[in-house]
Amino acid sequence: MTVGLEAEPNGDVVKPGCDIAALFAEREAERYTLHARHMNEAMVRVLRTIGYDLGFRSGTGQYLFDRSGARYLDLLSGWGVFGIGRNHPRLRDALTRVLASDFPNLVQMDVPALAGILAERLLHYAPWLDRAVFTNSGGEAVETAMKFARRATGRNGFVYCANAFHGLSYGALSLNGDGHFRDGFGPLLPDCSQVPFNDLAALERTLATREVAAFIVEPVQGKDVNIPDDDYLPGAQALCRRYGSLFIADEIQTGLGRTGRFLAIEHWGVEPDMVLLSKTLSGGHVPVAAVLTRKWILDKVFDRMDRAVVHALTFAGNDLAMAAGLATLDVLESERLVENAARTGARLLAALRALGAGHEMVREVRGKGLMIGIEFGQPRSLRLQAAWRLLEAASTGLFCQLITIPLCRRHHILAQVAGHASHVVKLLPALVITDADCDWIESAFGEVIADSHRMPGAIWSFGMTFLENVRKASAARADQAHSSR
Ligand SMILES: Cc1ncc(COP(=O)(O)O)c(C=O)c1O
Repeated sequence: MTVGLEAEPNGDVVKPGCDIAALFAEREAERYTLHARHMNEAMVRVLRTIGYDLGFRSGTGQYLFDRSGARYLDLLSGWGVFGIGRNHPRLRDALTRVLASDFPNLVQMDVPALAGILAERLLHYAPWLDRAVFTNSGGEAVETAMKFARRATGRNGFVYCANAFHGLSYGALSLNGDGHFRDGFGPLLPDCSQVPFNDLAALERTLATREVAAFIVEPVQGKDVNIPDDDYLPGAQALCRRYGSLFIADEIQTGLGRTGRFLAIEHWGVEPDMVLLSKTLSGGHVPVAAVLTRKWILDKVFDRMDRAVVHALTFAGNDLAMAAGLATLDVLESERLVENAARTGARLLAALRALGAGHEMVREVRGKGLMIGIEFGQPRSLRLQAAWRLLEAASTGLFCQLITIPLCRRHHILAQVAGHASHVVKLLPALVITDADCDWIESAFGEVIADSHRMPGAIWSFGMTFLENVRKASAARADQAHSSR
């Protein structure tokens, strides 16, 4: 490992340090080999198959740069963590200041000052709530909310929606509305019931048992970018109140401006009993999440002095995470990023809808702010239908890769499908995108979608080669597995 020389803050003592920048420069080209050898080999195969093994070397704002210095517009934003963009200077400055300080971090038998300040700032955005609890990840926020809901209501049950994604730890996985994630990991938590999204009657039937601790819902579903009907969230809130269940909004992806409001629930005027935040709050640097909740709920959890630590996480509330959260809020406010998300999101939605109107495979373009999905569906014309069927028979949702691969290769735009076996291509850019970025997105999607409707055409001939390569690779792996038995 490369060892560099670093000066101590007082400038006169020099000690060897680990030069991470030199280490990255020296070995970043080995990343796929290292991962295939020591980590998730399947992921490396996916990246190689779809040509996403680009070896990015740096990132700034909404952009990533590959080894040749070519710029890519990132519509994945790390599954939503780069709300304020990558490596924002004000965030970096805040973190550097924490590192340069001698703050009394993680004393444990104390309460951290920065966590109190961030709690105060966050609760300002949800004035009907009065307590905040920090965790290290979105999934942990979900687990925390589940525990609190059981303790507060004395009930066991949970209700979640089909298509829901709340994380992959056991509690959260028990609320996952996609069998693909659950298969092979059971048994999961009992007493968890799934209802269709946007179906108040089904929700009422389940809540009416009066055995449900909480109904948890993403205001806009991350998988497939499903938007609730206008009466859904207010109706769900009323039902929860009627039957004594808590109403939990998972805003881990939608929160902090993503949908053009600070909280997505503001679009529908509801006041849930808990609001879960994460992703953008991290500034993209330090994992962090928050459960915003009501005082009476926390009073039930921590109801006596000997129960003051019945729920805790060693690293939650650490100074770096809290500084990341505080700096992120400063950037969101001072750069008016929530307003930017609303404006650029409305522009993109209108442009992509207009674009989709002329193309038979575009079923719907939907979204809120900068969370946008383009749904594709089986074509009507016979020539396109045969090719679509061939691809879909190999793997449901494969058609979308014929959109995302040329977007990446030809237009340097990184986008992906909105979930397993989904026909929705999702746009989740940093909230800092500009009108020039919108021009880039509109012309790239315009060209690729038009090409995908040309048969014969470059996209479909690439699709058939791609399919053949996928088949060959799976056959080779099957042979390999067979001979190594
Ligand atoms: C809505 C929602 N909830 C929960 C999670 C889980 O967060 P984490 O991956 O940090 O555990 C995610 C992650 O994508 C999410 O989108």
